[in-house]
Amino acid sequence: MNRRSFVKVSGASFGSIMFASSIAEFLTSCTKTTILNNTVGGTVQLAIVNETSFLTPLNIPVTVGSNATLVPQSTTATIGGNSLQVLGYQPNGILGPTIRINKGDSVNIKVQNNLSEPTNIHWHGLEIPVNMDGHPSNVIDPSGSFNYQYTVSQRASLSWYHPHPDGYTASQVFKGIAGVFLINDSEETALNLPSGENEIPIVIQDKRFSSTGIVYSPSLMDNMNGYMGDKILVNGVISPFKEVSTRYYRLRILNGSNSRIYNLALSNNADLIIIGNDGGLLKAPINVKSILLAPGERLDVLVSFAGLTIGSEIFLQSNMFSSGGMMQGSQSFNILKFVVTKSVADTFSVPTKLSDITTIAESSAIKTRNFTITSMQMQSGMMGSSGGGHKINGKVYDKNRIDEYVTANTTEIWTFDNSQGMEPHPMHIHALHFQVLDRTGGRNQLIASEYGWKDTVLVMPGEKVRVIVPFSSLTGTYVFHCHNLEHEDNGMMLQFQVS
Ligand code: C2O
Ligand code: CU
Ligand code: CU
Repeated sequence: MNRRSFVKVSGASFGSIMFASSIAEFLTSCTKTTILNNTVGGTVQLAIVNETSFLTPLNIPVTVGSNATLVPQSTTATIGGNSLQVLGYQPNGILGPTIRINKGDSVNIKVQNNLSEPTNIHWHGLEIPVNMDGHPSNVIDPSGSFNYQYTVSQRASLSWYHPHPDGYTASQVFKGIAGVFLINDSEETALNLPSGENEIPIVIQDKRFSSTGIVYSPSLMDNMNGYMGDKILVNGVISPFKEVSTRYYRLRILNGSNSRIYNLALSNNADLIIIGNDGGLLKAPINVKSILLAPGERLDVLVSFAGLTIGSEIFLQSNMFSSGGMMQGSQSFNILKFVVTKSVADTFSVPTKLSDITTIAESSAIKTRNFTITSMQMQSGMMGSSGGGHKINGKVYDKNRIDEYVTANTTEIWTFDNSQGMEPHPMHIHALHFQVLDRTGGRNQLIASEYGWKDTVLVMPGEKVRVIVPFSSLTGTYVFHCHNLEHEDNGMMLQFQVS
């Protein structure tokens, strides 16, 4: 269902559909009782993860350079032993190639749209001109093509690319099209971090399947909570395993799920050494036992299997967590199995210093903007005129309306206020990176991956998060939105114009 029909339903007949049949159950869910597999309005909510055995080797997507062609298309992929209908950027498989370039490179990527609906590509994390950004209105029609051409001048980091056409983003991403975009630079190279086969891209996604393909058909409840799958995939593989040696590895992790948040940890309780996030390296490594990763966010993590005996099995898992709203965090499950198969001598030692990051002074901000991201308006009567959709400052996305006017090359503070909300919202701003100033309410603090540079920040129910945003000389109309893709497609997105 796209936003327009959702809004229409929520405004007119939503009340009667929901109220008559299932409002009691729905309100039960709103009291934060854990309902994982509830039936609402006749639709089963698939928030529970059904693990399978970890018997399939991890797939590593092929790597291409700055010149490539992507052909979004309906195709098949072998997933879990079945040949399934999916979307791909090439025949026979979900996910596109990993694009790996050096800072300073010019990129030329041709996209040939072989879908029967509009698509485009947003380069999530790249600081590039507006006509290359994949704005929701800037689409490639079926049979059309477009050359994305831009120069990358930002620091090393893990970004990603995915479709962003107005109303189709969630379904296209869920059905399989997205990919990793890596930038290298000399600062990063000098650190001699694990590379080659010791640097592993890990794209975590949850999916729902029928016997014939990936299923994307959100119910009203899915549109409220986000569409979750009961199977967890890494790089397109359900329950994969990866053979490793007794050494350090660098995991480049992307949460490419539509709405599921993961609380990543290792099953042997070893440290996750956080060295980077959305915008590149942190100042210094931070060791944690677990870390939350919301849709759209990235992590650069070192893990060590040194000292483990051959045959050891260690899982990357998702632990339970609190304050994830009514649908998230109530289950722990395994994601990826590492099997230690080889003993090696590893001379790598974790650098104590990674990068220089200048903290932006709050006093340099010339303006503060507040964004209330409460959704559903439950307290004020969910079925009232404002009920239903996901809004920012009471508004749903309108491509004909500019919501915020910003002056290029100035710095602002933006506040995402979910203090009255009941759902998590990972808030993302296009074409820039910000620093997180603070979080009040809820968790009341920053987590290890929120230092340095971010482009997406998780705002849990009850929280208010302040970010400081240095706008560059990139001008034009960009969007910012919740990266729960159901929320985004339902209108939880606004436009800011930089001039
Ligand atoms: Cu990855 Cu506008 O999103
Ligand atoms: Cu983006
Ligand atoms: Cu949201």
